[in-house]
Formats: sequence, C-alpha cells, structure tokens
Amino acid sequence: MIELQDIHKVYEKKKSEVHALKGINLKIDKGDIFGVIGYSGAGKSTLVRLVNYLERPTKGDVIVDGKYLAKQSAKALRQIKKEIGMIFQHFNLLESKTIFQNVAMPLILSKRSKQEIKQRVTELLDFVGLKDKASHYPNELSGGQKQRVGIARALASNPKILLCDEATSALDPQTTQSILDLLKRVNEKYGITILLITHEMSVIQKICNKVAVMEQGEIIEQGSVLEVFGHPKHKTTKNFVQTVVKTELPEKIKQRLTDKGIDRLLKLEMVGTEAMPPILVQLIRDDQIQITIEFMDMTEIQDTNLAIWYLHFDGEESKREKVIANLEQHGVRIEEVSVGV
Ligand SMILES: Nc1ncnc2c1ncn2[C@@H]1O[C@H](COP(=O)(O)OP(=O)(O)OP(=O)(O)O)[C@@H](O)[C@H]1O
Ligand SMILES: [Mg+2]
Repeated sequence: MIELQDIHKVYEKKKSEVHALKGINLKIDKGDIFGVIGYSGAGKSTLVRLVNYLERPTKGDVIVDGKYLAKQSAKALRQIKKEIGMIFQHFNLLESKTIFQNVAMPLILSKRSKQEIKQRVTELLDFVGLKDKASHYPNELSGGQKQRVGIARALASNPKILLCDEATSALDPQTTQSILDLLKRVNEKYGITILLITHEMSVIQKICNKVAVMEQGEIIEQGSVLEVFGHPKHKTTKNFVQTVVKTELPEKIKQRLTDKGIDRLLKLEMVGTEAMPPILVQLIRDDQIQITIEFMDMTEIQDTNLAIWYLHFDGEESKREKVIANLEQHGVRIEEVSVGV
C-alpha cells in the first residue's frame, strides 16, 4: 500500500544542511495500522509528510498503491492525494466555520452536490459521535471532540490511507483511548490503512499491528508489534518497550536474587491468553520440577497477552534440558539470563 525505498531527505539551510532522513526503507500493507515511534527530531513528521508528497524526498522513491509518486503528472498526483487523509496534533480546524462546514470542506473543494455533501457529512458526524454538534464552532468543543472532527474531515473524501501525526499527543489518557478506539473502527469498518506517528509506546500497544522505531533519521528496528515488544533489540527500542512491558528484571529483584546467591534465571516469554502456559503447569506436575517464579509481567497487546516470567529452576541438569526443550516445542521462547547486578 505504501512503500518507501531508500529515502533520503536533506533540508538545505543557508549555511548548513540537516540530513533528516537517511536511507529509510519501509513497507506498509493494506489494512495495517503501522506505528512509527521515535524521540523528538527523529524525522517522524518528515517521513509522514513524504507519503502525501507535502514533502519530496531528496533521493529515493515513494510508492503509494503501486504508483511511483515522482513519476506522476500534477493531475494524477492530486488524485492520489485525495485518497490520503491526514489528522494532526493540533487538529487544524477552521475556527470561523461550523463543525459541519469543517467536515464538508474537502467535498466543497471537489465540487460535490449540496445533497451529497449533506448526506456524507451527516453520516460522518454520526460515525464519530458528533451528530448534535454540526452547527457548533470549534472553540465550543473539547480537544477530543475537535480530533473527532479532524477524523471526520479526513474521511470525507473516502481515503484509502489515513496519516496521523501525533494525533493524540495533546489529549489526556482517557480521551486518547477513545480516539484510538475510533481510529481502530476507521480501520475495521472502512478498511483504511493507517500510518501513525507517535512518541508514546502505549499508543502503539493499543492499536498498531506493526511498528518501526526511528532514531536520527534512520529506522533502527521494525516488525510486528508482538515481536518487537517481546524481543526489542536496540537500546532505544528497549527504552520505549520498557514504558509498557516489563521485559527486564527490576533492579530491586536483581539485588534480592544476588543476595540469595542466585545468578542464573530462565526467562520465558509467551503470547497467549493464559497467565501460565498449560504446558508449564503440566511439566511441574508430571516431571515434578521445582521452580520459583521470581518475577512475572503480563501485558495486553492486540487482543492477546504477552507474558514474561523469570524462573529459578532447582533440580538436575538433565531434567532442566528436557523441560526447556519441551517448552520450546510448545511455542514458549526461552533464554538463559544472568542476573548480574
Ligand atoms: N522544514 C524544515 N527545514 C529545516 N529542517 C527541518 C524542517 N523540518 C524538519 N527539519 C529538521 O529535520 C529533523 C527531523 O524533524 P521532524 O520534524 O521530522 O522530527 P520529528 O521526529 O517529527 O520530531 P517531533 O517528535 O519533535 O515532532 C529535525 O532535525 C528538524 O529540525
Ligand atoms: Mg513531528
């Protein structure tokens, strides 16, 4: 649906230049809710603006729905842009227009009939839960309601893609949740592919199926949300993941284990709906292995759970090997870790 191939973006200043994107490769499939996360200045907004050609790459190709944007005529480009909606952190509503007029704007610009506009805007306001606000003005609305107007406006021309640049960053956690729920409905009901930029991992956790982590103009890690959350590789990714999933042992527990003379632990990781995999319960019962759960964390991601346990295993080495092999066969990922304070 969206492909970025070896994208570079250099902003020329009078005396210096900023290399904002350095060889970005990214593929977003139809129906994805693709999250891009990174600290301030990483190049996220630059990346998202390339997709609707608000910004042109210095080098590399942007391909949307199979079309190379650089090869399109001005007319063809306008058509492609109509299929891409965008919402912003500060909503970008026209303060002097009513909510109805704001949502109608893209339709007015593409010269649709009055009747069609009325029907479509009413339907959209109903979809975002603001039917009763049609004749109000933006300054009479809360932040969450304004973003709902932004979403309705972005959907007006039936886009295939929705770009969201920090769309929930100005909202409180509860309102953020309701906007994310709405975006998920947009994705499910209309089959719209979403590219979402954020600096909050909890946003990615709640609605994305894939994620890319950016740092200083580069993508340092990408993959499915379950994979990246379960096995973050890069230090920055680990820092982001730590804000929602406790993949690492807390310092206090490390200290306590060290005091007890325990240095080696088994780290188990499993995706599923149960707190403890049935296979582990079975092994404890049948093989009578002795384990102590030193730490566990369970995080809900995409209608399932990512569970992480740190176990201390007491018993013969041969039994331990057998247990590890058995668990691995049942899809549990296992790693030997050193507590090392
Ligand atoms: N129009 C511009 N002219 C010059 N430099 C720019 C321009 N836009 C962005 N930059 C620079 O490019 C780099 C990436 O900026 P970008 O806005 O893409 O980051 P970001 O990840 O969106 O950050 P934030 O989280 O703060 O929004 C920064 O160093 C920024 O100063
Ligand atoms: Mg930005």
